[in-house]
Amino acid sequence: MIVLGIESSCDECAAAVVSGGREMRSNVIYSQIAEHRPYGGVVPEIASRRHIETIVSVIEESLYRAGIGLDAIDGIGVTSGPGLIGSLLVGLGAAKAIAYARELPLVGVNHLEGHLTAIFLEDGEVDFPYVGLIASGGHTSLYIARAFGRYELLGQTRDDAAGEAFDKVAKLLDLPYPGGVAIDGEARRGDRSAVAFPRAMKGSSNWDFSFSGLKTSVYYHVQEIGKEAARRAVADLAASFQEAVVDVLVHKTVSAAASKGIERIVLSGGVAANSRLRSRIREAGDSRGIRTFIPSPVLCTDNAAMIAAAAHHRLSKGERSDASLNARANWIL
Ligand code: KG4
Ligand code: ZN
Repeated sequence: MIVLGIESSCDECAAAVVSGGREMRSNVIYSQIAEHRPYGGVVPEIASRRHIETIVSVIEESLYRAGIGLDAIDGIGVTSGPGLIGSLLVGLGAAKAIAYARELPLVGVNHLEGHLTAIFLEDGEVDFPYVGLIASGGHTSLYIARAFGRYELLGQTRDDAAGEAFDKVAKLLDLPYPGGVAIDGEARRGDRSAVAFPRAMKGSSNWDFSFSGLKTSVYYHVQEIGKEAARRAVADLAASFQEAVVDVLVHKTVSAAASKGIERIVLSGGVAANSRLRSRIREAGDSRGIRTFIPSPVLCTDNAAMIAAAAHHRLSKGERSDASLNARANWIL
């Protein structure tokens, strides 16, 4: 089965063609980062307008790169939530129009299921069950994935998402948007132990997270030393902040796997592109006999290949969405 995937839940306008649920024939991502950068974050109204302008050419490009036309497509998968409502509606409108005109089966996909199973597009060895950490701009959640479509939520952030903390702290440090990439870069030449920022909920007896206190603590530190000193120490502050986030993410994910007796960990979401998180989770997994699987950065951040792959499994089981398929801004997986 060849599936066309469409993703427009936030600021990435994406379309991809995936064959057999695993083979990426194309993966086109039109990023709006440049348009949102002047505002230091995603502006929903700008995002949905830009999606309207770009979605048709992004879909056409995905077919062109796959070397096929719409007549070769067997089904369509589209992100129907969670995300920005105006952005989601653009992808949904396009998907429904093509499905109707071509009489193709259509299925709405949860964006988080896409992230959680993106690894199957790249790694032939990954298998269920695994503990999956989704760490992105909008989510920080720990799951046990038992099979396609069977996910158990262990815990999630009680306030800010990990990526949101990266973006907000980057703003405090006068680093460009998106903050995660900028902090990752600065941190490479910084001292990770320069400032002992708090590790909230690291030792708690549940699998929840909290990052807003950490962000506040960076804010007060910058206030205390002053903007100029913070500018000079930006690499150390970035490295110390990043270490605090990574410490908690690694500790919770690895101890969840160990306590549940699960031997595999899968990372996903934009923050999984973080170089320090990638290396530390590998080390921690290795030391406990747990295998870690991390998609390449382009499959960690938002993309439509992961949506097409998740749709493949749903369409194969006969799942169908009809014309009433609607956007769900908050949709718990
Ligand atoms: O998954 P994603 O593309 O979009 C959402 O669904 O949110 O994640 C975007 C988030 C942003 O907060 C961005 O700052 C963060 O992922 N991010 C990173 C890195 N690259 C992207 N965070 C830390 N280190 C990175 N290298
Ligand atoms: Zn995402």
